[in-house]
Amino acid sequence: MSSSRREVLLGVGGGIAAYKACDLLRRLQDSGYVVTVVPTPAALNFVGSATWEALSGRPVYTQVWENVPAVTHISYAQNADYVLIAPATADLIARIVHGRADDLLTNIVLASTAPKLIVPAMHPQMWNNSATIENVRILRERGFAVMEPETGRLTGSDSGQGRFPETVAIVEKFEEVVGRSADLSGRTVLVTAGGTREPIDPVRFIGNRSSGIQGYAIARAAAARGAKVQLIAANSHEIAIPGVEITPVETAAQMHDLLLAKFPHSDILVMTAAVADARPKVVSSTKIKKSELEEIQLLANPDLLASVALLRKSGQIIVGFAAETENLIANASNKLLAKGLDLIYVNNVSDGAIFGSELTHGHFVDKDGVESEVSEVTKDTLAHELLDKAVYRLGLPNV
Ligand code: CTP
Repeated sequence: MSSSRREVLLGVGGGIAAYKACDLLRRLQDSGYVVTVVPTPAALNFVGSATWEALSGRPVYTQVWENVPAVTHISYAQNADYVLIAPATADLIARIVHGRADDLLTNIVLASTAPKLIVPAMHPQMWNNSATIENVRILRERGFAVMEPETGRLTGSDSGQGRFPETVAIVEKFEEVVGRSADLSGRTVLVTAGGTREPIDPVRFIGNRSSGIQGYAIARAAAARGAKVQLIAANSHEIAIPGVEITPVETAAQMHDLLLAKFPHSDILVMTAAVADARPKVVSSTKIKKSELEEIQLLANPDLLASVALLRKSGQIIVGFAAETENLIANASNKLLAKGLDLIYVNNVSDGAIFGSELTHGHFVDKDGVESEVSEVTKDTLAHELLDKAVYRLGLPNV
């Protein structure tokens, strides 16, 4: 089991639907999972190892005779938090039922104690064959989740029940198996994203390099987990997220007003936005000529997090972000205390690689002083790790 509980072992059986599993892999990654693909040897007739390696960013093996020193059938089984087999052929299902271990995937299934979801796809006559019916019954009895194939047109001209389900339906079922599909249902999550801009005149502003990618990832992840999500987006122009109410803002003052209005109705606030620490004292209504651009006097902006944290009622969770280049944990702990937070994630920006990047690495520090390192992960993965911690804190007595 991995420390982040995001490791998915995607087993791919030798059916034509194997090509659809490429999209499934992508959507799992979008949902924050890290995926290792183990095809059966037959599956390579449909999609080759190079495709799986490129998409997963990990090596691909099909037999226990490859990469022998790593003892992959055991190490993969131990590292997998979840096993998802999609598509599962009639033959693969039968082999699993009989405890066969004739390729790497079936060895892993035998050795793994992780929750398992099987997504069958085959011709309707094979699906309705009493041998398959009995095998599926046995798998379910043993605790495997087995999806029902969809009814519709098959590879040939005939139709019936046996089609590989749509990717969204598989991801939804998988999230159910993982148990996080609805852990935020009934909760309201307020997220800020992007960077505020403080106008100097109609064409110039003081701004920063925050892209908004992390805030959008958190909003998406919270919505996928059933929350009502409100996103205050400062100058970040990503596309709409289904089910998320996005309010665009420009300045720290606008963000502050919205936070004050929305925070009292939220269970969790996640403040990823980079708020400009100061704004010009005077905003010119006409463009300042460069000959007159000598000096801009600044006024400090309020600390939005600290100001909102003063309104906190019991049961509300406040999460802050920090970007630091040195003394990461000490600086993060100080900000957590000074701003009255429950949890803070500190980005390690010492190499300048976080802004605008899809990847992040850093540390979480919580108000009990518990610290955990996050090695390079996507911002989607980070979003789910952060929400796991927030959900855990929501469940604590006297939060
Ligand atoms: N933040 C805020 N209001 C501000 C400045 C920051 O609410 N005026 C929030 C950010 O959204 C973030 C956290 O405080 O969640 C930490 O932001 P950061 O810029 O790292 O901290 P600062 O307090 O500005 O400290 P410094 O710039 O001195 O490191």
